[in-house]
Amino acid sequence: MDYLNIALGKGRLADRTFALLEQIGINFEDDHTKSRKLIFLNKEEKIRIIFVKASDVAIYVEQGAADMGVVGKDTLLEAQASVYEIMDLGFGKCKFAVAAPKNFTIKSDRKLKVATKYPNVSKKFFRKKGNPIEIIKLNGSVELAPIIGLSDVIVDIVETGTTLKENGLEVIEDICSVSARLIVNKASFKTKTNKVHQIIRGLKECIE
Ligand code: PRP
Repeated sequence: MDYLNIALGKGRLADRTFALLEQIGINFEDDHTKSRKLIFLNKEEKIRIIFVKASDVAIYVEQGAADMGVVGKDTLLEAQASVYEIMDLGFGKCKFAVAAPKNFTIKSDRKLKVATKYPNVSKKFFRKKGNPIEIIKLNGSVELAPIIGLSDVIVDIVETGTTLKENGLEVIEDICSVSARLIVNKASFKTKTNKVHQIIRGLKECIE
């Protein structure tokens, strides 16, 4: 029988996902917190965790390299991948927001410069509002951009608000809330019925 592959993003959501899987009786031979391995096996249940970059989880699942995955709604919205979003796992809660330096005012003579790791989400949000923008795509430390004059505002996720606060920025507009989602490859949902649905059922019971 084939292994069922579950893609997890290295970082924030991985610990909670491993804990959740343990709660439904799926354990792994190696401890991911003490290892640099990228693959974790449960040979008995034939389940394999593959550890990928968080922003790549949705693409692994869309392409079928993973049958299931756990991903933040932020990266899922940005990836625009064709997958089934099965459920909100209830952890990894934060929000998408527009933030700017304190006392920021919009300059009407040019497009608003928006620095972000999330260009698709940003474009969609500002398009709906009818505001023309220029996107500056960054890969991290986005809060720096308005401080050093690279952008006017940022679009980013805010969890505790500490990063904004410690860098003299504040939320000027909320976009939407974000949390961890279980996603499933469309073909696997139909072909690997037993195992996929067993995990979905287990996680649902666990969360409820
Ligand atoms: C994320 C996000 C913010 C920060 C928000 O960055 O981009 O910078 O966390 O968290 P807070 O509200 O609790 O301070 P991440 O830690 O993923 O690092 P990065 O900037 O390198 O992407």
